[in-house]
Amino acid sequence: MAIPEHIIISKDMHRLEEMLKDRRCFALVDNNLRHNPIIEIFGERVLFVEATEDIKTLDTIGMFAVHLLDRGVDRDTLLVGIGGGITTDITGFLAAIYMRGIRCGLVPTTLLSQIDATVGSKNGVNVNHYKNILGTIRTPEFIYLCPEVTLSTSTSSNLNGIAEMLKIFMLRDPGYYQMAVDHYTGRKQHDLTDLIRRAVEIHYEIVEEDPEEWGARRLLNLGHTFGHAIEKCGEMSMPHGKAVAVGIIIAARMAVKMGLLKEADFQRIYGDFCMIGLPTQPPVPLTSLTGAIRKDKKKVGNVIYFVLPTGIGSTVIKPLTFEEIDALVSSL
Ligand SMILES: NC(=O)c1ccc[n+]([C@@H]2O[C@H](COP(=O)([O-])OP(=O)(O)OC[C@H]3O[C@@H](n4cnc5c(N)ncnc54)[C@H](O)[C@@H]3O)[C@@H](O)[C@H]2O)c1
Repeated sequence: MAIPEHIIISKDMHRLEEMLKDRRCFALVDNNLRHNPIIEIFGERVLFVEATEDIKTLDTIGMFAVHLLDRGVDRDTLLVGIGGGITTDITGFLAAIYMRGIRCGLVPTTLLSQIDATVGSKNGVNVNHYKNILGTIRTPEFIYLCPEVTLSTSTSSNLNGIAEMLKIFMLRDPGYYQMAVDHYTGRKQHDLTDLIRRAVEIHYEIVEEDPEEWGARRLLNLGHTFGHAIEKCGEMSMPHGKAVAVGIIIAARMAVKMGLLKEADFQRIYGDFCMIGLPTQPPVPLTSLTGAIRKDKKKVGNVIYFVLPTGIGSTVIKPLTFEEIDALVSSL
């Protein structure tokens, strides 16, 4: 399947400059990109975002809406979000509800936001520290993916995107899984634009199969059930992608226990994650995470549709009750 036209993958920023040249735009920009030349396109029409998870709230949305009103942003303005997943989530949500919806373009600047947070057209803000409780599903006018812009991200925040990339390839493409492992362990360099393109392509295949998230799109939740619980661990929490990496390892261990995944495949995944430097252990005892899982927004009654790997490149979705999850977790 081709990547949809609104997703533009480019090795540099020239095309974005062309696209925005004569447009009435306003940008929300991650503070860490304050000195990036791309900001010049917007002149004074920029608001900087201090991207921490704490600001992904309705209060911030209200505060930004006031700024946009003061700065004359109206229904003819294109709201452009430039930054990691926090900035693009805020921009997408704000654009969806400001004046009942204005046009929006996104320029994700972390690997995680390029292959995951923006391409699903979902956005969201947190409520009482519960992740993405309020949000919309709305396709932006464009999503501009430029691998070059991620070069300034820290290794630690890059790991978040690597975890999501490996997750995507674990769902559907063992060949690209191996390429990504080789690339990020330094065994063999691959074209990052190609890895991003393939990850986005698979993401899109899955989203297109199931835009409302009742079927195949659940696959994208591989590693996310425990991942989200780890993100809510208070002081011991981990950022999204790293938490997902641990969640994938837990799901793989559960799959071995259930006879769905060979021990050898588990060992390979575990070894790959360790070599890349991804975390594999939860920061708190596993059993203390099951309380948070009971509040997972993807639960249906007392069931979670759990994504379990059955090999590298294949997965299965199993409805598991909270009691079944508790029993499995305490046997790991
Ligand atoms: N909407 C969705 O479907 C979806 C999916 C996955 C994740 N998310 C959300 O994405 C967020 C995490 O996104 P993220 O990992 O991109 O993190 P982020 O937005 O927190 O960015 C991580 C850090 O990198 C900095 N940064 C961003 N781009 C940079 C660059 N080019 N150079 C230097 N520094 C840069 C930021 O200022 C921040 O300090 C979470 O809030 C998560 O809930 C949303």
